[in-house]
Amino acid sequence: MLRLFSPAKINLFLRIVSKRSDGYHNLSSVFQTITLGDTLIIEPSAYDRLTCTDPQLPTDESNLILKATALFRRQTNLKHAFNIHLIKRIPTQAGLGGGSSNAATMLWACNQLAKTNLPLHILKQWGATIGSDVPFFFSEGTAYCTGKGESVQPLSALASRSLWIVKPPEALSTPEVYRRLGFDSSAQLSTPSDLEAFLSGSLPLFNDLEVPAFDIYPQLKKLKATLIESGFETVLMSGSGSAFFCIGQGSLPSNLSVTSFPVQFMRRGTYDWYSDGLIE
Ligand code: C5P
Repeated sequence: MLRLFSPAKINLFLRIVSKRSDGYHNLSSVFQTITLGDTLIIEPSAYDRLTCTDPQLPTDESNLILKATALFRRQTNLKHAFNIHLIKRIPTQAGLGGGSSNAATMLWACNQLAKTNLPLHILKQWGATIGSDVPFFFSEGTAYCTGKGESVQPLSALASRSLWIVKPPEALSTPEVYRRLGFDSSAQLSTPSDLEAFLSGSLPLFNDLEVPAFDIYPQLKKLKATLIESGFETVLMSGSGSAFFCIGQGSLPSNLSVTSFPVQFMRRGTYDWYSDGLIE
């Protein structure tokens, strides 16, 4: 039996660079894992079965966890199957990468439980076929991602920060947010200076997907303004939203109808998966 932590991610900045001929978008973004996460409890079984603490979440083969197990079987020609229980804490349709993190965690678990000892770059490559954010989770938790997100340049640890994740009730669909962006294919390519500027602290943090997300739900723009007025130094939507992260000395107003989580940056050890530090 394996009990694995599956962390959420935030995008410390997110630039949409161009629209690709395959319909996806090239991006430039620093991804960071945080201490908010799900738990997967996995044991070998005669067939795949997924249960989840959140009754709203589909537990059929559309769930990225079961896609990951099916992919592992296909790629290895092995017959291993698993009984998986998912303790869901990461809000969905929030831009926090919960589904992608679960898929990466499941690929790691398959590799452990089937004792296949595959190198991570193989799992990462397979993960990219499940979702653009999956490869990032095979970094150690901090990375500069380009292309669709699958080109992952690992970064060393950033200065530790405490922050709040704020999730409003509005749920955003990633394809819809990208569609609303209305990017044409003529935009300029590649902005390698983003990373240098970010690391030197001179890049103002921004997320190009805020504009289309605020277009879909104008109340998100109001929420961002309220959070800034509450004293936070940085308030930024993560990924395609609708969750925000808030950094700085502010305090959350008590009258907001949002779910909030105090979190910190987290990383994994080179040879270990992410851990919430709880003893099994
Ligand atoms: O790769 P993933 O399945 O997570 O992407 C979901 C959707 O988000 C894609 O179908 C696409 O519409 C959009 N997307 C994009 N460019 C990216 C990542 C996602 O346009 N780099």
